[in-house]
Amino acid sequence: MRWQVVNLKPLPCLRRGEFINPASLSNATEDRLLVITVDGPAAAGKSTVARALARRLGFRYLDTGALYRAVTWKALEAGVDMTDARQLTAVAQRARIELKPDSQGLRVLCDGCDVTREIRTPEVTQNIYHVADEPPVRKVLIEQQRQFSRRHDLVAEGRDQGTEVFPDAEVKFYLDASVEERARRRLSDLVESGKDASLEEVTCEITERDARDRSRPMGALRKASGAVVLDSTDMTAEEVVELMVREIEGRGVLPCRS
Ligand code: DC
Repeated sequence: MRWQVVNLKPLPCLRRGEFINPASLSNATEDRLLVITVDGPAAAGKSTVARALARRLGFRYLDTGALYRAVTWKALEAGVDMTDARQLTAVAQRARIELKPDSQGLRVLCDGCDVTREIRTPEVTQNIYHVADEPPVRKVLIEQQRQFSRRHDLVAEGRDQGTEVFPDAEVKFYLDASVEERARRRLSDLVESGKDASLEEVTCEITERDARDRSRPMGALRKASGAVVLDSTDMTAEEVVELMVREIEGRGVLPCRS
């Protein structure tokens, strides 16, 4: 079922005899559909919550971390110099990345090849910063994220969704949790998937990623203006989703279904 999309943007005030100049309404995200953003640090539960929220609303889930991961994977595969911004940008421009929802979650394809598992390896995670720290690469991926929003109502998850990519999103969330709790969750995911690590190692990895994510020149992790901050340390994913749905419904941004 489709949402009937109405124009939610306030129109400029007109005096008698004046016409709206379409150019005065344009900005980078003007022709997008509805967007809910979920930003926050690594392992705060963003993916679980954003995916469940998208399902509840009938929106598409946009995992922007998967785009950065896919470009990193492609660059490593191609053997490019990971310190060369021009080569990384060329990889980002050429890579055809598709996010396909299926019963298991989200499949990630890069140039037609299923890389859902490959983009989650420690090698990719350790090298992402080369890609994510480069503003020209970010610009390519930001444009792709905005393209998604022209085709689908979105729950967009990442680090910069409410700040850089969709600053005018209908509702913005910033999902946080204590470092200790995030490390515990990450460790339990690793153990479940048969991998070995200590709580100390995982805490160290998360703390390092936090520092990098908060300090990059463009797209640094921070709370967007107007974002609702949710601390999920003592909450289940279901409780967080429930709070989000209540907040969204309370704002009255969801149009009536046709
Ligand atoms: O969400 P994730 O853990 O899969 O993201 C992996 C990395 O990608 C993250 O540490 C920083 C980068 N990233 C980013 O810079 N901007 C985003 N919108 C999403 C992810």
